[in-house]
Amino acid sequence: MPEQREAHEAILDRLNRRLRTLCQCTSTCFQAESEQELLQSICETLVTGGEVRLAWIGYCEDDAEKTVRPVAQAGSGLDYLERVKTSWGEMETGQGPAGIAARTGKACWIDDIRTDPRFSPWRVAALARGYASCIAVPLIAHRKQRGAVDLRGTLNLYSAECNAFDESAIEHYTGLATAVAYAVTALRGHLAEDLAYGVTALRARAERKQAEEALHQAREELAHVTRVTTLGELAASIAHEVNQPLAAIIADANACLHWLEADRPDLDSVREALAAVVKDGDRAAEVITRIRALLSRSSVAHRPCDLAGVIRDVLLLVGPELGRHGTALQTSLATDLPPVMGDRVQLQQVLLNLLLNAAEAVRNVPPERRRLVVRSTLEQRDDGSWAVVAVEDAGVGFREEQTPRLFEAFYTTKPGGLGMGLSISRSIMDRHRGRLWATANPGHGATFHLALPGMR
Ligand SMILES: Nc1ncnc2c1ncn2[C@@H]1O[C@H](COP(=O)(O)OP(=O)(O)OP(=O)(O)O)[C@@H](O)[C@H]1O
Ligand SMILES: [Mg+2]
Repeated sequence: MPEQREAHEAILDRLNRRLRTLCQCTSTCFQAESEQELLQSICETLVTGGEVRLAWIGYCEDDAEKTVRPVAQAGSGLDYLERVKTSWGEMETGQGPAGIAARTGKACWIDDIRTDPRFSPWRVAALARGYASCIAVPLIAHRKQRGAVDLRGTLNLYSAECNAFDESAIEHYTGLATAVAYAVTALRGHLAEDLAYGVTALRARAERKQAEEALHQAREELAHVTRVTTLGELAASIAHEVNQPLAAIIADANACLHWLEADRPDLDSVREALAAVVKDGDRAAEVITRIRALLSRSSVAHRPCDLAGVIRDVLLLVGPELGRHGTALQTSLATDLPPVMGDRVQLQQVLLNLLLNAAEAVRNVPPERRRLVVRSTLEQRDDGSWAVVAVEDAGVGFREEQTPRLFEAFYTTKPGGLGMGLSISRSIMDRHRGRLWATANPGHGATFHLALPGMR
């Protein structure tokens, strides 16, 4: 009787340990974050459980030798797996428990490694490492649709005792392997979902980037076209500006010729006239250079910019146009403007738009109101120094309720207007981290302000 009790206790003890191991394996199945981590933890838990000396998991490969490739292992005598070859094909190395389990989908075990002929290819190596019996259970998962095999492998356990794997053990480990196979496919499924999500996100990002680039390009194109049309509107004034120095050059050159024909040429006058020719030539060239810059389609490059220089260039371009319409231009320019980061041509374009709008706003008002003031100031704010340029006019102005619409694309109150000037200007300012806004003057007209952060 006491012997029986001892035997029962031993069984109970073994079942208890199995149960604990099984619980640990199940929690690994839920917690593992990668397939490799899952397989490795299962092997380690099984070995720690004390019932097996070596545990390894092999995946079946579709190579010529139908290799069962070990992917995780734990226990003692790990070099065993480096020494032996296991296959799931019909050849000799495929007739062991691992090969049979993988091929047939059924558990296969060896009660005594010393005597079972099926184990002869591995016998010496196994006995040398103290393995006496073993079991292989299939690790197979079928895809839900069409029943295709998603995963084919085996879980292999080796014990130091003969006959270690009885019926209950076979059932137990087969069940465990099924759970592990599910966990693997679940992890792979998540991985696939993650990948699919990642790919979609990447694609969306690429598409958005493409759209942004197209928009950016369209904007640049538009900015360029409007610049060209604006300059077209200025053509008469520009031609005049270039013609003036050219006419002076011709007059001076003629005078020189005249002086040189004399018996005693007045060389001082010739020298003076030639100096004037050079100066006028430079002036004409400068106008042309400025126009060419504005007409250029060169890519936008933000570099340190001298805003005072930008204002000066634009005033030189629109000055003659204002003069033609009897508009007075007054300036009040700060001498201490900090350099700003920006694209010179685009900043010129913004200022040009503001000045042309102002010029148009005063075109049909009484002569005494046909005046513009361009003011530049340096403002110290909490976030550093800002260069502010204001273009003030005493023209038609705008009504309070128009304010939010002024910067909208295609908003115009002019018969021939496009309504793009301010919208383009604002997008240029946005890209310069600057601001552009309008205020109605207390008396007549409007003031448009642009602010750019000074370089730090
Ligand atoms: N200085 C100003 N005084 C009064 N209203 C102005 C002034 N500047 C702009 N506006 C108003 O804002 C509108 C939009 O100006 P915006 O420069 O965007 O277009 P536009 O001048 O009408 O046409 P374009 O595209 O040729 O410049 C103008 O039609 C006008 O009603
Ligand atoms: Mg305009």
